[in-house]
Amino acid sequence: MRLEGRVAVITGGAQGQGAAEAAAFIDEGARVVIADVSVDQGRSTAADLGPQAEFAELDVTDEDAWDAVVSRIAKQYGRLDILVNNAALYRVCPLLEETVAQLDRLLAVNLRGPFLGIRAVAPQMAAGGGGAIVNVSSTAGLRGYPSHTSYGLTKWALRGLTRIAAAELADKGIRVNCLIPGAIEGPMLTSAVRDEEFAQPEAWSGTPLARAGRPTEVAAAAVFLASPDSSYITGADLVVDGGATATG
Ligand SMILES: NC(=O)c1ccc[n+]([C@@H]2O[C@H](COP(=O)([O-])OP(=O)(O)OC[C@H]3O[C@@H](n4cnc5c(N)ncnc54)[C@H](O)[C@@H]3O)[C@@H](O)[C@H]2O)c1
Repeated sequence: MRLEGRVAVITGGAQGQGAAEAAAFIDEGARVVIADVSVDQGRSTAADLGPQAEFAELDVTDEDAWDAVVSRIAKQYGRLDILVNNAALYRVCPLLEETVAQLDRLLAVNLRGPFLGIRAVAPQMAAGGGGAIVNVSSTAGLRGYPSHTSYGLTKWALRGLTRIAAAELADKGIRVNCLIPGAIEGPMLTSAVRDEEFAQPEAWSGTPLARAGRPTEVAAAAVFLASPDSSYITGADLVVDGGATATG
């Protein structure tokens, strides 16, 4: 098992891709802390995943809350090996209609969150000899999609933060990479595209694999970036989009 004995924190792990990542990490032998603002859903997901999973209430925008979660893990397990900065808010709004309040809301969760997370976990990871951080960006951080104003901006910036952190933390044994999902099944996608639209084959004409991805397919890539299988990879983007941005 590739993550045997590792301790991982997955933000936004209460549902969607984060929950699939939690399940995949546990299958590989890790203990997983699901850190989410969604308390009922987070507790229920952790309970479904069994004794290798636990829930910690965390608003990723709150620096003190990060410190509390990391100290609790340090006390409980004496180690912290993996952070997946997965929590995010999605929003579609044209540039000229976007408000500063909405921009700030997305910046807080999608960018300040991962920034605080990296700073909170790095000392603990370094003390244990190293670790792996996976920042979940989006193909909206590879392209200039119309109306992905605040969301796209945060996802582009997260790729930059990944490279900066990779450069700074390499000498502590910490690798930092970016996972870049395309259209993945789940509530975030259905909020952007109506079900009947993406059931049509033409909806996928720009995607060589001609379908949406599954959360388990993103989770498999997250396991790779978190595990020693990617031991010589840092500061990189791993695109999981069925080929959409390779050809579009
Ligand atoms: N679904 C897609 O098609 C898609 C495509 C590209 C990238 N992504 C990225 O993948 C990641 C997961 O997407 P998903 O579709 O599973 O999302 P989702 O909306 O299903 O889940 C997001 C989770 O983040 C949590 N969250 C929101 N704000 C938070 C906060 N302040 N603190 C802690 N937790 C918070 C939510 O409670 C929720 O559990 C996100 O980073 C998203 O931007 C998704």
